[in-house]
Amino acid sequence: MRKNNQLRSLWYKLSSNQRYIVRRIYYYPYDLFDKLTGRRNRYVPPRGYIYTGSPSNAEKYLQQGVHQLDILKNNIDIKPDDCILDIGSGIGRTAIALTKYLSEKGAYEGFDVVEKGVKWCNSKIKSDFSNFNFKYVPLFNDLYNESGNKASEFIFPYEDNHFDKIFSFSVFTHMQIDEIEHYFDEIKRVLKPNGMCLSTFFLYDNDIEDYISNREIFNFPIKKDEYRLMNENVKSGNIAIHKTKLNKMLTQKGLKLDRIIDGFWKDKIRDDQKIEYQDIVVFKRQ
Ligand SMILES: C[S@@+](CC[C@H](N)C(=O)[O-])C[C@H]1O[C@@H](n2cnc3c(N)ncnc32)[C@H](O)[C@@H]1O
Repeated sequence: MRKNNQLRSLWYKLSSNQRYIVRRIYYYPYDLFDKLTGRRNRYVPPRGYIYTGSPSNAEKYLQQGVHQLDILKNNIDIKPDDCILDIGSGIGRTAIALTKYLSEKGAYEGFDVVEKGVKWCNSKIKSDFSNFNFKYVPLFNDLYNESGNKASEFIFPYEDNHFDKIFSFSVFTHMQIDEIEHYFDEIKRVLKPNGMCLSTFFLYDNDIEDYISNREIFNFPIKKDEYRLMNENVKSGNIAIHKTKLNKMLTQKGLKLDRIIDGFWKDKIRDDQKIEYQDIVVFKRQ
């Protein structure tokens, strides 16, 4: 267990570019094997390119996207004709599933701070599905991008009241409080009046704060003002927010919390009824 934490600290000591290179080298034999045995899929990047979580083979990666789409259908009623925004679109995990669901009347926009991911998505997905579009936004994130531009000042490149639905999977778990608050402002601006948003977080309350701070793996030892960090040096590594604070942040920004579906990341014993690792938060415009 302690070895896990040490490995994570070591990993965080590398720059984001060094992490990409290590990943490519480590997964090269797997990628070569997949290529030689015909296990590649046009829309799934080689494992060494998958910087957005645990790289897996094409079949599992596609299943993860379908699982995310099911979460969107069941919780914010994504419809084939919707105009949707994917914040932190990564390398298209959710978008791939959406290509089979959105109609030609529907439209997908995604943006991300990692240029390699955006280029991959435009070359593979946008080129086959013209109602899909991905934008690179060079913003600082100490896990992903070392540019100097602040996410807390970034104006989303879309018109007011543009989207029916907005979502972000595993993005607000890697951003700082002022950045998330600013993104809430922008979500409110670009979401249509009855639009809905779904985002995942790591959330805690008083009952589990001690446990998530002190347990041996995936812990948040650094206490801040109603939120906790995993690593002080790489603040975007992972952030957990107190449920009360999240509710206050949403309300202050004119957004209304609809529901929280707890994930199993914080279970002492894994609850098999839970559908997702991170906590799912559904919210809408007030
Ligand atoms: C764990 S990955 C999840 C990617 C994707 N949502 C998925 O589920 O596969 C987190 C993503 O958030 C992106 N990200 C980090 N900071 C961001 C920001 N300020 N704005 C937009 N995306 C950001 C990262 O580049 C990365 O692609």
